Amino acid sequence: MKDIKNYIQQNKDRFINELVELLKIPSVSADSAYSQDVIDTSEAVKQSLTKAGCDKVEICETDGYPIVYGEKIIDPNSPTVLVYGHYDVQPPDPMELWTSPPFEPVIKKTDIHPEGAIFARGACDDKGQMFMHVKAVEYMISNNCLPCNVKFMIEGEEEVGSVNLKNFVENNAAKLKNDVILISDTGMISNQQPSITTGLRGLSYVEVEVKGPNRDLHSGLYGGAVANPINILSKMIASLHDENNRITIPGFYDKVEELSLEERTEMAKAPFDIEDYKKALDLKDVYGEAGYVTNERNAIRPTLDVNGIWGGYTGEGAKTVIPSKAFAKISMRLVPNQDWEEITELFTKHFTNIAPAAVTVKVTPHHGGQGYVTPIDSIGYKAANMAYTETFGIPAIPVRSGGSIPIVSLFEKELKSKTILMGFGLDSDAIHSPNEHFGIFNYLKGIETIPLFYKYFVELSK
Ligand code: BES
Ligand code: MN
Ligand code: MN
Repeated sequence: MKDIKNYIQQNKDRFINELVELLKIPSVSADSAYSQDVIDTSEAVKQSLTKAGCDKVEICETDGYPIVYGEKIIDPNSPTVLVYGHYDVQPPDPMELWTSPPFEPVIKKTDIHPEGAIFARGACDDKGQMFMHVKAVEYMISNNCLPCNVKFMIEGEEEVGSVNLKNFVENNAAKLKNDVILISDTGMISNQQPSITTGLRGLSYVEVEVKGPNRDLHSGLYGGAVANPINILSKMIASLHDENNRITIPGFYDKVEELSLEERTEMAKAPFDIEDYKKALDLKDVYGEAGYVTNERNAIRPTLDVNGIWGGYTGEGAKTVIPSKAFAKISMRLVPNQDWEEITELFTKHFTNIAPAAVTVKVTPHHGGQGYVTPIDSIGYKAANMAYTETFGIPAIPVRSGGSIPIVSLFEKELKSKTILMGFGLDSDAIHSPNEHFGIFNYLKGIETIPLFYKYFVELSK
């Protein structure tokens, strides 16, 4: 595998150009205005797998966007790696905050990426990271050093909850049979300190509606005499946290896994500077649950956040009105052992209970998924760590992430194999934000590290 470095040097420009082409297609799964683009992207991913040397590359139709499947079976008795990724992206809004258009990729240098980074929606999450696997497999096939079987399953609905992938996995367990699942859709600590994600949070996402009078009212004629749904909704939302920033929904913490002091001490060893953290976000102080530090609050503790809130008059100038309705989108990040459907029920019950009789409340669940933790003594984890150690010169640190890839827990349940989360993104890459980018260093380091994972995974499996 020595020549992977040479191969990257020789093909670097092509690797970048091919990713740039993929990033030009606006595959926004949340917005139906882009539906043809999402479909076009699945076709582009299919072609890239064929070009990489996969056999049996197919578009698998679902009730939503297609899943792209491809495989290269070298020997049915060899281990099989299943690569998962997603080709859909988040909406680019707010457009005016992008320094270059989200679907016209450009390479710019930044303090953290002196070698340049590709700026585009999906650059890091997840087209860039998914494409590293396509290029790594292209290298292994064309240089005759693919040491085991590989299967790809690239979906187009991750950013909207992977609703149809669930069925696909349940119905295709034999086709997807594997010894380890490999995903690059997370991050690492820094370009000097690799890390392997050992945990993901679960998610429960709901929308709430608070209804007062049957029409918008003059706030002079009716103000003070009827409930204002926005006032009430604000009060209800505020009551969901207590003075210690703990969530007040009865039963919410019942199943939360409490980490031992040893585990928390181990976690605290990961390099982290709170002053840098505040500076990067222009914050005077951090905020969160009492009794936990920042890296615990955002990884091993559950949360409740309002993602959007609206109602009434928000146009220019002033309008005196008591709106008939107020709305909010609320997400709860969950930790292992919390069941997302149970939490959704607890939320619904509580939110309905705390509403005064002067309003009616409707709670509509969106999507969700369970959290995930993976042990660090598995063959897959060890192989990943050996690969990072070789390409970065130092071992990777295990880190639990606060983000969610809800389908990962389902993979373990249905396919009975462990997932290894080899992420190459950085927190500063602005995923889901304006000016998302992915470092050229990270992209090429990923392509270099992935083949070593295969090599060590096969060696350790013997
Ligand atoms: N790739 C992210 C998740 C992620 C990013 C995990 C960084 C860890 C580190 C994924 O595409 C994502 O955005 N997931 C959503 C959930 C999904 C159901 C919309 C999330 O975490 O908000
Ligand atoms: Mn992602
Ligand atoms: Mn995402």
